Amino acid sequence: MDKEGIIVLDFGGQYNQLIARRVRECNVYCEVHPYNLDLDKIREMNPKGIIFTGGPNSVYGEDSPRCPKELLELGIPILGICYGSQLMAYVLGGSVATAPVSEYGRTEVEIETSSVLFQGVSEKTICWMSHTDYIEKAPAEFKVIAHTSVCPVAAMECTEKKLYAVQFHPEVMHTQEGAKMIANFTHNICGCIGNWKMDSFVEKTIIELRERIGSGKVLCGLSGGVDSAVAAVLLAKAIGKQLTCVFVDHGLLRKNEGDDVEAVFGPDGAYNLNFIRVNAQERFYAKLAGIEEPERKRKIIGEEFIRVFEEEAEKIGAVDFLVQGTIYSDVIESGLGKSATIKSHHNVGGLPEHIDFKEILEPLRLLFKDEVRNAGLELGLPEHLVFRQPFPGPGLGIRIVGAVTPEKVRIVQDADAIYREEIEKAGLDKNLGQYFAAISNMRSVGCMGDERTYDYAIVLRAVNTSDFMTAESAALPWDVLGRVTSRIVNEVKGVNRVLYDCTGKPPATIEFE
Ligand code: XMP
Repeated sequence: MDKEGIIVLDFGGQYNQLIARRVRECNVYCEVHPYNLDLDKIREMNPKGIIFTGGPNSVYGEDSPRCPKELLELGIPILGICYGSQLMAYVLGGSVATAPVSEYGRTEVEIETSSVLFQGVSEKTICWMSHTDYIEKAPAEFKVIAHTSVCPVAAMECTEKKLYAVQFHPEVMHTQEGAKMIANFTHNICGCIGNWKMDSFVEKTIIELRERIGSGKVLCGLSGGVDSAVAAVLLAKAIGKQLTCVFVDHGLLRKNEGDDVEAVFGPDGAYNLNFIRVNAQERFYAKLAGIEEPERKRKIIGEEFIRVFEEEAEKIGAVDFLVQGTIYSDVIESGLGKSATIKSHHNVGGLPEHIDFKEILEPLRLLFKDEVRNAGLELGLPEHLVFRQPFPGPGLGIRIVGAVTPEKVRIVQDADAIYREEIEKAGLDKNLGQYFAAISNMRSVGCMGDERTYDYAIVLRAVNTSDFMTAESAALPWDVLGRVTSRIVNEVKGVNRVLYDCTGKPPATIEFE
């Protein structure tokens, strides 16, 4: 690491990214690596500290991930969390057993405030527990520094060896003083100064990009989403007109989205870059005509996107670099620590494979989503672009159940625009993970005026989620739903019924296809 940093070793816990994020919130750079990262590599990286994550295994399981004792003897401060704490105890001769009472959820923990790890933390503090095994007895040389009514070793330390372990999860919000504990670890135990900041990231990256690109030509596929937008602006600041942004309007964008993107990045926008908008609606609709099967639809949209992008890249000619808006969670999801190849990423919606690029540029590779948003603000991107909700690459194609037709696109665009407007007006937008309208393939009988109608049903979806892997249907106020419903049936021709989706994920998914 060329800067002070902490390594998180991933033992399969669900919160590994969250731990890294919390560390970065202390202005300390942090990377997540697989639990079996080579010892020599760790020595070479020379981190200020290491954190072991939790994980679903028992230390006694045959195939459970382990750590070599040598790692605990490097003299680098280590904090073990949940499974990581049990592993530390197990490897150093303590005893780990199935807890007579498993603890799950918010739990009151009594702590030793004299420990540096708990400096400034209340004597009795609420922590998030999630375990079936526990440390029954700490290894010799360790001091127990926290317990609960049923967990004798909720935390332990060996200050001489700079080893610390907590059974609970300081990284989750439900651990009320977790952020303080993590800051104590990074600053007071590992000795970090905390000089990782977003403005220095933006400045430094612009200089690095200039050096790397020289006088080369760069191509960037813009989707309108926050990641590619921030990547494009970073590049625009670094190399100006050497950059060309290609924005493919596949006719499956939200209402006015194409124009919004063009207003920011096009000729009248603030960035003075080469911007190509390809209006490919008809092509996409023709390819999708009559296709009902969701995966087939996704494939067609992805492939057609590639074809259009390829054609534009060929027209520009001799492009040296391709920009991708890959962010750190993409890197983690596509295989920890593996270097990115053009095929392992999917966030640009599919990219050509055979165009002759000298190099792929991924300037946001080390940032989490919220950090990307901060970088976007730092770069002066408008807030409505920076904070927009996730929108899938296949766009409305997967919010139109069954075959895509221009009429259904119009209906879902209009209904969605009304829904979003009302949610914003009611001040609910900041508290929802994702919300949108979809069009079902169902038509049903209604009556409007004195006429019989036989029209489509719109489905409204709103979910609360932090990671988009699981989600709960949001309990929207009835009056807001009522207002949205009456506006949609009155204002959107072709709709006579509005339904609300109460299903969580699982068993449903957030999108419909
Ligand atoms: P699901 O529907 O799987 O969606 O619960 C989880 C999250 O992923 C988004 N999503 C996509 N994003 N390309 C994307 O870039 C896709 O093909 C895609 N499919 C789903 C979805 O909007 C939600 O945020």
